[in-house]
Amino acid sequence: MSAINLNVNGTPRSVEVDDMTVLLDALRDGTGVRSAREGCGVGACGACTVLVEGRSVSSCLANAKRYENCAITTADGLPADDVIVAAFVDSNAMQCGYCIPGFVLMTTELLAQNPHPTDEEITEHLEGNICRCGTYLEIRAAVHEAARRKSA
Ligand code: FES
Ligand code: FES
Repeated sequence: MSAINLNVNGTPRSVEVDDMTVLLDALRDGTGVRSAREGCGVGACGACTVLVEGRSVSSCLANAKRYENCAITTADGLPADDVIVAAFVDSNAMQCGYCIPGFVLMTTELLAQNPHPTDEEITEHLEGNICRCGTYLEIRAAVHEAARRKSA
């Protein structure tokens, strides 16, 4: 084991990892992050999504050591008044909520690149994220609502 520095939501954190530790475990076990979640564990569901330097990463597949000193954003680190989170809440875009941090971060990435995505662009960007509760229509509405609020 050795210590690496992860910059998590703007705070430097020293985390003990070995050569095989994935970023998801480093965040959850080493920093107390709870919003990045394990669903499939094999890169197929998006529940473990985090943003690294603003770009989405499936943390269940990412070797933690590769992310030393990178700026990592998790849903825990979003501001309390985050527009996208509020749009998801107001659009009833969740049931159990397990998948939602991943969808919110994917939406954060999408709207930074494309402030007014079409239905097709939303579907394409979120295609790697699975919601087992099936709230896809509400999630798509939430993305449109977030885009509207961000541009208002
Ligand atoms: S837990 Fe990482 S993609 Fe499913
Ligand atoms: S809201 Fe339950 S898995 Fe998406």
